[in-house]
Amino acid sequence: MDILFSRLLVLLISLLSCVSSVDKLNMCMDGKHQISEPRPEGQLYQQCSPWKESACCTANTTEEAHQDNSYLYNFNWNHCGMMSEKCKKHFIQDTCFYECSPHLGPWIQPANESWRKERILDVPLCQEDCESWYEDCKNDYTCKENWHKGWDWSTGKNHCPKGSHCSRWTEIFPSAQDMCEKIWSNSYKYTTLTKDSGRCMQMWFVGPNPNKKVAEYYLNGDAETVAIATGLHVFALLMMLLH
Ligand SMILES: *[C@@H]1O[C@H](CO)[C@@H](O)[C@H](O)[C@H]1NC(C)=O
Ligand SMILES: *[C@@H]1O[C@H](CO)[C@@H](O)[C@H](O)[C@H]1NC(C)=O
Repeated sequence: MDILFSRLLVLLISLLSCVSSVDKLNMCMDGKHQISEPRPEGQLYQQCSPWKESACCTANTTEEAHQDNSYLYNFNWNHCGMMSEKCKKHFIQDTCFYECSPHLGPWIQPANESWRKERILDVPLCQEDCESWYEDCKNDYTCKENWHKGWDWSTGKNHCPKGSHCSRWTEIFPSAQDMCEKIWSNSYKYTTLTKDSGRCMQMWFVGPNPNKKVAEYYLNGDAETVAIATGLHVFALLMMLLH
């Protein structure tokens, strides 16, 4: 009787985690500018327009994402001289991805920061997106490895802190992996997975959002792991057959 009861309990927990997985496929993080639930937004600006079918961002946020020192974060890309246009377009795309993506559920974590309640951690970025970002920025200059923390904000926008100096990008970030992982405190994880793998998140895409299937893959992986770990092999098998 006891065993049956505990089995039922485990099954219930697994089913619940499965139900919450479904929500995680389509959700917005509790960040600074994201709306509460994804919705179609036809007016998304330029580089953010791929998210128009389903987005966590507003048209206003996406227009601001294309401006220097926008009110979004007052962030100064030009802290070591003007950032090159080809480099900046990756930071704009990164902002679109961060603000608009409704498929970051598997990587959303509580954030211990005053300006947001949730953050993303270790989002597996497709190799092409990280490498092209690095390639287009590697002749630029910066003074810091982690762009989330440690700036001098005394003027209202970020400047290089005392004791730091502007160096070649490649001195601060010896590799694409260093840059993608360290720049936003491990929001992204470098991978050697390519866009056609269906196992990595794409910052740049055209047409239907390919990241939904990727999120689905990682969520189902989790549900299967939970089921296997709790001894529900039949349930795990069923999950694998269903997906
Ligand atoms: C977006 O909204 C903010 C705050 O309401 C406003 O100050 C800003 O001018 C708007 N930006 C655009 C591009 O409309
Ligand atoms: C969150 O930040 C506060 C203040 O910086 C600190 O006291 C607390 O330990 C932090 N909590 C976690 C879970 O890191």
